Amino acid sequence: MKLVYQRFDSFAAEYDFMASLQPKNDFFFNNLSRNRSAVLDIGCGSGILAFELAKHYQKVVAIDICQEMLDIAKVKRSAANIQYLLMDAENLTLDEKFDLITSANTFHHIQKLPATLQKITKLLKPGGKVVFLDNVLQVETPATIVYVLVLISAIATPPQPNQKGK
Ligand SMILES: C[S@@+](CC[C@H](N)C(=O)[O-])C[C@H]1O[C@@H](n2cnc3c(N)ncnc32)[C@H](O)[C@@H]1O
Repeated sequence: MKLVYQRFDSFAAEYDFMASLQPKNDFFFNNLSRNRSAVLDIGCGSGILAFELAKHYQKVVAIDICQEMLDIAKVKRSAANIQYLLMDAENLTLDEKFDLITSANTFHHIQKLPATLQKITKLLKPGGKVVFLDNVLQVETPATIVYVLVLISAIATPPQPNQKGK
């Protein structure tokens, strides 16, 4: 767990930049819950999904194990109805229940998967939904250098004038 924290801690700003270039949240918005009082986002990172969910739900609780990611989320993606919390998904200490529990690109980091999923289902309201999207490749999260190279390439490639919407 400490390793995951250290990994994201060291390139939180680069991760945020890269992830915000191409947010892929359609999957979640096509699968929102019927009731929209409260949503939990697990492994919220820099808050990209949580911020969008806050437009659809009365309350968003967004947790992450990495303080540096949460610091970016709080600065860039705060809203009155979002609560960002430093918390380990494998040790959830939440009293309330949720209509929707989401997680994007995070569950491949979870070591105690069955136990964590069992705890998560207990946090659901009756009729609630769990919607996860994750990387299923049998490889590690790319090394920091990959994010740095994507960042450099994005900065170095000016938008083309004939590209729609640019
Ligand atoms: C690849 S990032 C995804 C961030 C965000 N969901 C997104 O899609 O942009 C994975 C996130 O999961 C967090 N994470 C990893 N293990 C965790 C755990 N056990 N509990 C909570 N967050 C965790 C990391 O700190 C990191 O912010």
